Amino acid sequence: MLNTPLPACKGILLAGGNGTRFYPATRIISKQLLPVYDKPMLYYPLTALMLAGIRDILIITWEHERALFQKLLGDGHQWGIRLQYASQDKPRGIADAFVVGEEFIGNDPVCLMLGDNILYGDRIPAQLQFAAQKTNGGTIFAYYVQDPERYGVVRFDENNRPVEIVEKPTKYLSSYAAIGLYFFDNRVVEWAKQLKPSRRGELEVTDIARMYLSEQALEVIQIGRGVAWLDMGTPSSWLEAANFIQILEHRQGLKVGCPEEVAWRMGYITSSQLLSLAEPLLKSGYGQYLQKLLESNVVREGYSALF
Ligand code: TTP
Repeated sequence: MLNTPLPACKGILLAGGNGTRFYPATRIISKQLLPVYDKPMLYYPLTALMLAGIRDILIITWEHERALFQKLLGDGHQWGIRLQYASQDKPRGIADAFVVGEEFIGNDPVCLMLGDNILYGDRIPAQLQFAAQKTNGGTIFAYYVQDPERYGVVRFDENNRPVEIVEKPTKYLSSYAAIGLYFFDNRVVEWAKQLKPSRRGELEVTDIARMYLSEQALEVIQIGRGVAWLDMGTPSSWLEAANFIQILEHRQGLKVGCPEEVAWRMGYITSSQLLSLAEPLLKSGYGQYLQKLLESNVVREGYSALF
């Protein structure tokens, strides 16, 4: 059961995009609806937000794909959360989420997560809950990678303070990539509205992070090597993610990114609600897994064990 107070922080999942690196698989179906091993891709970032204690979430999709997401996820009440939907008429860039989401965000801070990202590690829920409680400034996460030029890159000084952040740098800057998860206070809405498209024609979230950095209001948390951050933008990275999930789930008998379980462990739904969610899924191992949770002696408070 969640012990920390619920954050006022709203959540946004960005689930549009062109998906061209995944063509032809994503020509008629959104990448974020593809299965990643045993569940749809969007379940993974959705459960990350739920584990952060965020229960008010906006899902941004292409207009023509919205109905599919709604069919899959509904209004969230089954998981004790509130899901709303908005659309982008074209992929204007990641920072466009704050413009599209202006009304939804209202006067609150907001956490944005990309719909094709997985973040896995036992300290992650606590770190996300901490970031979600903040009402001032921004928090982003940096992860050591071997191909930083593909991402927004953060350079740190000798005291590990962030000094520079550059989108897809052409020269080596640092090996720390900013992952697709951003916590910003309410200033982000106005700042996003002022952004001009970059040279590649997108509203860059890196430019927003740089604004926070210049105000000395950006915390960059370096994530250790015991954590997995995966993005699933290409067929290979998608398959790697699916293999990773399969290996973990098979070894531990615990699911990663299962919204029913997260909702139950976080205290968003009761045990009898979990049982009724399991019933229609009993033909697959998924429903049996949910039933088993109730029978097993897994301590409900141990939500960090399931991420
Ligand atoms: P990107 O990696 O920028 O793009 P993509 O993967 O959709 O497309 P491509 O293969 O053509 O490069 O997107 C990261 C995530 O953010 C992904 O889940 C799609 C989503 N997204 C939007 O929803 N709207 C946008 O405007 C952009 C740029 C991305």
